[in-house]
Amino acid sequence: MIILFAGQKGDSGKSTLASNAAAWLARNGKDVMLVDADRQGTCSRWSEYREEDSKLPVVQCVQKYERITKALKDLDSRYEYVICDVAGRDSTEMRSAFLAADIAIVPFRPSQADLDTLPHVADIVSAAIDLNPDLVCYALLSMAPTNPVINETREATEFLKDYPELKTLETIIRDRKAYRDALSEGKGVCELKNEKAATEIDALMKEVIRP
Ligand SMILES: Nc1ncnc2c1ncn2[C@@H]1O[C@H](COP(=O)(O)OP(=O)(O)O)[C@@H](O)[C@H]1O
Ligand SMILES: [Mg+2]
Repeated sequence: MIILFAGQKGDSGKSTLASNAAAWLARNGKDVMLVDADRQGTCSRWSEYREEDSKLPVVQCVQKYERITKALKDLDSRYEYVICDVAGRDSTEMRSAFLAADIAIVPFRPSQADLDTLPHVADIVSAAIDLNPDLVCYALLSMAPTNPVINETREATEFLKDYPELKTLETIIRDRKAYRDALSEGKGVCELKNEKAATEIDALMKEVIRP
């Protein structure tokens, strides 16, 4: 199964989520390959930090650029799960990854700047579904304020309803320091002592994979 983290906006949490998905799968005994298709190399660096700690379950990571459809499908035949991270803009990597993916997750911060990219993302998703009809595409609210009084999250959820190409996930990823710590330590939040973040990733993975 190929799970792609994509979007048209940087800093929406794609690499953080991709690395957490990979760590969660490895922790749960799954055979996982992480594909870093963003030249910024966030996931590659994460995996290098991870390798330094021999006690952590291994997550293989490779870098692939340009047209990656075939490479992803090939890896899919060798691994149970392939997690792919792409850059936060319309790129060859993103377009070609959409053609191979089983599931695409597009994180959005509940901010106008992120939500403004929705019409374009929805167009890309529609074009991908024409060529890859089994693709299931989800919108995920990420880095949402932990303060429940702030209405931004509810407003964003309403806004997302206008784009049926993207099914909004029930799980919401909040802004938590644990995610920043995990990224710089080569870990998933499931490997840190932060119950709240760990519960979010657990809920996300179970909602997306639905075993
Ligand atoms: N849920 C979160 N809570 C707090 N910080 C986060 C969260 N998700 C990502 N970050 C931080 O925000 C920054 C951008 O995240 P990143 O995953 O690199 O985004 P992208 O890959 O979409 O550009 C990083 O410094 C990361 O540690
Ligand atoms: Mg990134």
